[in-house]
Amino acid sequence: MKTLLITGGCGFIGANFVRLLLETRPNLKLVVLDKMTYAARRDNLPEQHPNLEVVIGDIANLELMRHLVTSQQVDTIVNFAAETHVDQSILNPFVFSQTNVIGTHVLLEVAREHKLRFHQISTDEVYGTIEGDHHSLESDILAPRSPYSASKAAGDQLVQSYFVTYGLQTTITRGSNNVGAYQFLEKVVPLFTTNAMLDLPLPVYGDGLQMRDYTHVSDHCTGILTVLERGTIGEIYNVGAGQEITNMAMLEVLLETVGKPRSLIRHVTDRAGHDRRYSVSVKKLEALGWKAQYQPKEAVAAAAKWYFEHPEYWQPVRESSSFQAYYNRQYAKRLEVKV
Ligand code: NAD
Ligand code: DAU
Repeated sequence: MKTLLITGGCGFIGANFVRLLLETRPNLKLVVLDKMTYAARRDNLPEQHPNLEVVIGDIANLELMRHLVTSQQVDTIVNFAAETHVDQSILNPFVFSQTNVIGTHVLLEVAREHKLRFHQISTDEVYGTIEGDHHSLESDILAPRSPYSASKAAGDQLVQSYFVTYGLQTTITRGSNNVGAYQFLEKVVPLFTTNAMLDLPLPVYGDGLQMRDYTHVSDHCTGILTVLERGTIGEIYNVGAGQEITNMAMLEVLLETVGKPRSLIRHVTDRAGHDRRYSVSVKKLEALGWKAQYQPKEAVAAAAKWYFEHPEYWQPVRESSSFQAYYNRQYAKRLEVKV
């Protein structure tokens, strides 16, 4: 039986990926290592499963990672662990370097010592804002513009350097904007869906004409699995629906799904350094036999429906003092000013 160490498995995409493997790969043992930051939830994962073990810890802790890899006889590391929210990286950037750069480096070092297979979960944000009608290719120059995307780009470069220098068995996937079940409420689709359900305004940054490739998390997870099982070592693969829509189009779908009016839309002060457009070509991954099942609007509608049907999941978060403190810090002033 192979053993996968899945870091960040109590977060949004990691948990969806673990659930996919538990359902479809009964011959794998899964060890989840998670620091349990504000974005993590233990109940994103099944409470008990014979093939699953959950350990609390920090990927940047070299001794812990060495111990875990040896004691659990890990074959493969899949690194989802990260600080992931652009707005948080603007408010508090330093922890992004600590986890996304140093933490990734620690994992690579442990993988090198034990000759493990290493897969890095990266993002289309490393390409920066995309002009004209270009679709980012995996060979494009990296041009990150936020502390978050810069830290993810640094992680990618370290992974590539371990492949080239040490022959480590690496792959990287660069996913676009994911939506679906178990996403923390700071991200736009769960935030706007739950705001709408609470009849609160939807704070649209700037004109809302920024473009994102909203991808269903299940498509991202099957893309990652495809690369793990059939990808070429040393290669990078984009994962997304392969088409993008504006944030205004995204929120129209969302409002329609939950049956709330457009009058909730409020244009507010833009995000600093806001990337105007992301767009990825997914042809390289499709050549491995993978195909996205959801178009962006379908993905947004499915995600909004999940939050609509699961208030028990998000209501306690909305009511928590930590979320309310973040919400006030991020939005109170913005919502006071008419733009
Ligand atoms: P998330 O914020 O929901 O989850 C991140 C998880 O990592 C949390 O469980 C958190 O506790 C854990 N974590 C953070 N720091 C850690 C540390 N030092 N040690 C161990 N665990 C730690 O994020 P997500 O949206 O699930 O993103 C997962 C990965 O996918 C990230 O690497 C992110 O950059 C990448 N990604 C996300 C998206 C997206 O749209 N959400 C798109 C493309 C790529
Ligand atoms: O593209 C992949 C990336 O997608 C991932 O690497 C990140 O981890 C993930 O957080 C996501 O980044 P974004 O910045 O695109 O996601 P977010 O949900 O924060 O914002 C999506 C869009 O919505 C973006 O253009 C900003 C806008 N937005 C966001 C919020 C939170 C608003 O207009 N208002 C908001 O309140």
